[in-house]
Amino acid sequence: MGIGATAGVAAVGGLTVNAQASDTGDPKSSGSPDALVFDKDDYTVVTETITTDDGDKEVVYHFYKPRDYVTNPSDGTHQSLVVSVPVAIDGEAVDATRAPIVLANVVGAYMPSTVADAVGVGQAVMEMGDLGGGPGGGGPGGSPTPPGSGTGGPGGGAPGGGTGAINGMVNLAKLAVAAGYVAVEPGTRGRSLTTSDGTYYGTAPAVIVDLKAAVRYVKFNKGRIPGDTERIISTGTSAGGAVSALLGASGDSPIYHKYLKELGAAEASDAVFGTGTWCPITDLEHADGAYEWIWGGNVTQGTGEVVDQGVSRALQSRFAEYQASLKVRGLKGFGPLTARNYDQYLLETYLQPSATRYLSALSDSDRTAYLASNAFITWSGGKATFTWADYLTHVGARKKTAPAFDAFDLSAGENNEFGAGTTESRHFTEYGLRNDTTGVTGKRLDSDIPEVLDLMNPMYHIERHNPGRSRHWWIRVGTNDSDTSPTVSANLAAALDNLGDDVNHLYYWDQGHATNIDPGDFIAWVAEISGHRGTGHKSTSHKK
Ligand code: DHB
Repeated sequence: MGIGATAGVAAVGGLTVNAQASDTGDPKSSGSPDALVFDKDDYTVVTETITTDDGDKEVVYHFYKPRDYVTNPSDGTHQSLVVSVPVAIDGEAVDATRAPIVLANVVGAYMPSTVADAVGVGQAVMEMGDLGGGPGGGGPGGSPTPPGSGTGGPGGGAPGGGTGAINGMVNLAKLAVAAGYVAVEPGTRGRSLTTSDGTYYGTAPAVIVDLKAAVRYVKFNKGRIPGDTERIISTGTSAGGAVSALLGASGDSPIYHKYLKELGAAEASDAVFGTGTWCPITDLEHADGAYEWIWGGNVTQGTGEVVDQGVSRALQSRFAEYQASLKVRGLKGFGPLTARNYDQYLLETYLQPSATRYLSALSDSDRTAYLASNAFITWSGGKATFTWADYLTHVGARKKTAPAFDAFDLSAGENNEFGAGTTESRHFTEYGLRNDTTGVTGKRLDSDIPEVLDLMNPMYHIERHNPGRSRHWWIRVGTNDSDTSPTVSANLAAALDNLGDDVNHLYYWDQGHATNIDPGDFIAWVAEISGHRGTGHKSTSHKK
């Protein structure tokens, strides 16, 4: 499919179009792998001022407009990517031929994302559309954190009427280019997309299949696409963090082959070298239990009431079973992680060190003021300590009701993510199904659900020691984030650490959902893990 067609479809709104290659009447030309050859001379030169931790940088880069990364796209708007290659930063020439490639997704809420209208770096847009997905829309998990609730950050959000702001509040694609790296930004299908006959074609596993196809496109074009195609580092936040982690964990797994073939993905590896994941909303089939384990006694935002404690306790016991079955050991010799010791583990490993870092960075007077209004923290010998109960009180109201992900009334965004055919939303846990309030009959989950859950869960691949997984992991989450349980990130980190992977996992003190307060450190980490020597210009600072 040509670029012109892509732009034309975008103008329609892109939700119901199903322009199969065969629709063009010339399936051969668009279906040939030659269609995936990257034309390295087909760029525009863009000059842009990009704000970084080191101040504003004037970046001149080559911008490669949207091109399809599969030969048989499901529609003309989502399965395309843009590439940005820096050639000069602050007047100094940059050679990005061997630079790391940051593959920045802007997936949010498992909704579609697009680069169809991008004319420069960092303009990928998450399509919020009619968020809510399921019947009764806007229910638990149906809508992610409103834009603007984060701390903001360098680079600002992606343009596009604020739609990119949720997960684009720190624009890593822009920061990557300002650091001399190549940025690849893919669009992806998402859960709201339907064909004209009402068939859902962007629900699971579409998003991960698309990301893999985008990686294959980049690797297939080794030597044509600038940058080191063996040094791809994936990034994403929230649902985007989930699929970034999944991309990292599932490298070259054969379980995606049939889907990739169907789309006409390039014949190449889909493994990535490094993975950045911020507050991943993942391990979905176990997330309801994990959520109740930590937030079960906290009141709910909006209602100010605690959730049904019978439901909460039933889910908590599922978490205990799951956690025991995982057999992961905590970092730093903590031993096996269980529902009984996970509170202590989080306190020691993440939460108290997070508060310590935060308080250490404050001026004496600011620290004194913070401690005066947060008397639950003991500050002694340069270290913060507090109890688990006080931490839970400090976080306050939980964001979601129970169950948080597989809602009894199918109203969660995740129910829609597991929709299929013309069914918008489905249950994906037995507990959710058994307690269904929408009239769904049958005692068993739909027969395809177990396979789809595996396709969507990084833990599936980590438990199987997938040899194609990424070995470098950057994981970040806010200590006040109740969009999921902090055990989700901690289990991911521990399971990877147990396999010997390089894991850099911190919790941001007092930060909520979808925040990124150390993007400069991430950019420096990318150089470190990829052995990138830089380009002669001053790199983004590595704050300690
Ligand atoms: C997102 C947030 C959620 O609470 C959720 O359940 C899924 C996705 C998000 O911000 O992407």
